[in-house]
Amino acid sequence: MKSISIYLPKDEIPRQWYNLGSELAMQPPVDASGKPIGPEALAKIFPMNLIEQEMCPDPWIDIPEPILDIISRWRPSPLRRAVFLEEYLKTPARIYYKDESVSPAGSHKPNSAVAQAWYNKQFGIENIVTETGAGQWGAALSFACKLIGLNCKVYMVRISFDQKPFRKVMMQLWGGTCVASPSTETEVGRRILAQDPNTPGSLGIAIGEAIEAAVTDQSGKTRYSLGSVLNHVMLHQTVIGLEAKKQLKMAGEKLPDVVIGCAGGGSNFAGLAFPFTLDKIHGANIEIIPVEPEACPTITRGPFAYDYGDVGRQTPLIPMYTLGHAFIPRPIHAGGLRYHGMAPMVSQAVQQGLFNPRALRQTECYEAAMLWANTEGPICAPETSHAIAAVIQEAVKAREEQREKVILFNYSGHGLLDLAGYEKFMAGELSDYALPEEDLRASLEPIMSYPKPKQYGT
Ligand SMILES: Cc1ncc(COP(=O)(O)O)c(C=O)c1O
Repeated sequence: MKSISIYLPKDEIPRQWYNLGSELAMQPPVDASGKPIGPEALAKIFPMNLIEQEMCPDPWIDIPEPILDIISRWRPSPLRRAVFLEEYLKTPARIYYKDESVSPAGSHKPNSAVAQAWYNKQFGIENIVTETGAGQWGAALSFACKLIGLNCKVYMVRISFDQKPFRKVMMQLWGGTCVASPSTETEVGRRILAQDPNTPGSLGIAIGEAIEAAVTDQSGKTRYSLGSVLNHVMLHQTVIGLEAKKQLKMAGEKLPDVVIGCAGGGSNFAGLAFPFTLDKIHGANIEIIPVEPEACPTITRGPFAYDYGDVGRQTPLIPMYTLGHAFIPRPIHAGGLRYHGMAPMVSQAVQQGLFNPRALRQTECYEAAMLWANTEGPICAPETSHAIAAVIQEAVKAREEQREKVILFNYSGHGLLDLAGYEKFMAGELSDYALPEEDLRASLEPIMSYPKPKQYGT
């Protein structure tokens, strides 16, 4: 039989998360005057146990047993080999992918949702408020809150709310409440709607609304949760790469030559790539590629700067690649990649020359997704299609160079609720949006006067 899937026994599930921050020259979040913020500055937004994890310098952090109990419902996830795509491309490369679409919510997101819900519950929190782009994070957090016994409210970016109505149903089915963002429920939402009633919304706006809703709640029992970007989210996702390492060994491979993940806020990419980045830091020759949309080219065209994580400027200033907190990306279908910033850990690693970011056009990603579906079979999420398009580029390169590379990528989610985008692509109705230089300059203008992080090597 040609098809290859590598399953790790349940008792091989990772017992610790890996913190790449311990190896990087990380810089702290700061206030508007440039002073590093302490844990108390975040206390109204997050529970203190997660704030401690956010700031933890240790390389390895034990995963509490109750979290393992829940994530082991679908973990370890399979490592599969894309033999049919390899055959089609006539490439000497061996292509492996970590199949995160097997989680109940259909993506990698529950790895952090379960952990965050559990820590909130431990801290005595009863209600969690969050944002969601494509709806994957909102669905994952609703699922986690249902299992752990918390209420969940989700601000969903307007364009995805309209494009992906069934994700809203998933949230409701797991007990979550979902409203379109910008909404009239918050100051941030009302301000944006007054400027542009037809705005498609953005993750930066939805994050602003969710934080505002959490910090203005008077019960003291409500906190905000973010599905990507933050250090603790990166940690939670490293189970992906830690499992993949063991599975590659079972497949008779050593280390991969190329590691690829799509990058919105950076969490699925980091989850797969960080354990291999440690090998790279210690001398392994691995090319590590985060892939983003040309319409939202944060790491390929944005500066490494201090900026807010949300349009409402309620977060501290975070050191990251950014397009400016007020940037509203064009309405591409990969809603989860429409974020103006990038995780500080991913950003710092890019600064230190550890990754080679790449930006791709929406239509080339859909072409790749179609080829994937017509060779391998599964229908991928539009976000995941960015990783697949880069994998195809690398596999073709390996063919041209006649090199037997091992390519590993993260299959971050399925696209069974994202069919509207496929329908438009097949009807020839999708376009590409390269970000004009003058728009980029304008959206960066407000952050020019902010404190500046140290540029690596200067
Ligand atoms: C399937 C899928 N992949 C990737 C992403 C991008 O997020 P991140 O960069 O945090 O992995 C999302 C976000 O919604 C997603 O739903």
